[in-house]
Amino acid sequence: ALQPVMIQGPMPIEAEFFASLLKDVRIEKAGQATFYLGRLNGYPIVVAQTGKGLENTAAATAVGIERYHPMAIINQGTSGGHDPTLHVGDIVLGKRSVNASNFKTPFRDKGQGSAPLDWLPMDLLASAGSAGEGDSAKDAERIRYYLADSELLAIANAVKASYQRGKVVEGTIASGNFWNNELDRIAWLHDNFGTSTEEMETAAAAQIAHSYGVPFLGVRVLSNNLTNGGHYDPSTAKDCQQFVQRVIEQLIKQN
Ligand code: 5AD
Repeated sequence: ALQPVMIQGPMPIEAEFFASLLKDVRIEKAGQATFYLGRLNGYPIVVAQTGKGLENTAAATAVGIERYHPMAIINQGTSGGHDPTLHVGDIVLGKRSVNASNFKTPFRDKGQGSAPLDWLPMDLLASAGSAGEGDSAKDAERIRYYLADSELLAIANAVKASYQRGKVVEGTIASGNFWNNELDRIAWLHDNFGTSTEEMETAAAAQIAHSYGVPFLGVRVLSNNLTNGGHYDPSTAKDCQQFVQRVIEQLIKQN
């Protein structure tokens, strides 16, 4: 049997449009996740509504891989711009993603407060040893990026002219259980991690997909961008799914 393509979206507004495109749909659940199993142009598709945040996404990704053995995973949805040249409605193809909430704090004594812009990146995959102290700790002071599958990225680039709502660019998707509204914090992440946009899921899905060897791509529309006054527009969630539909149709054609 053909292996399905899995499309992930955190919230109902980020998954239900895609689910509505499917024929012969069957619904299965696991924890916070709802899986819509069906067909697009005759090809097997799993739409996974994962729930929000890193944990729900990681769990839904592992369960989805174990149950349905997808040949590729696309995580998509809304995000908040870190790059002032990107506007609400623009799409970032995640050439890479990063968990931008993994940190080690340098020592400060009692009464010295907290200095978030001094925090060091921490890579929990660097070694089997402690990330905090001991021989392996220094190795862990680095940023872990998850790279997009190059074929999926090429397919997404090949259909970008179909997208009317804004531009489609390659960039870095930053994930964490955070919603940053401090402009200096956002600029620091942009400068130090190279972030294009932030959200709460992509890097968690990428980490699990990589550990299973499943090709992965993150696709994120900007629903807001504090760096240039771009107000939140939830209608972007559907635009993103329509773009991903073009990507999947192209992928199906090539398979
Ligand atoms: N910061 C963090 N998450 C955001 N999301 C949209 N914009 C942002 C932002 N500026 C997405 C997250 C999460 C939901 C709250 O919306 O991925 O699923």
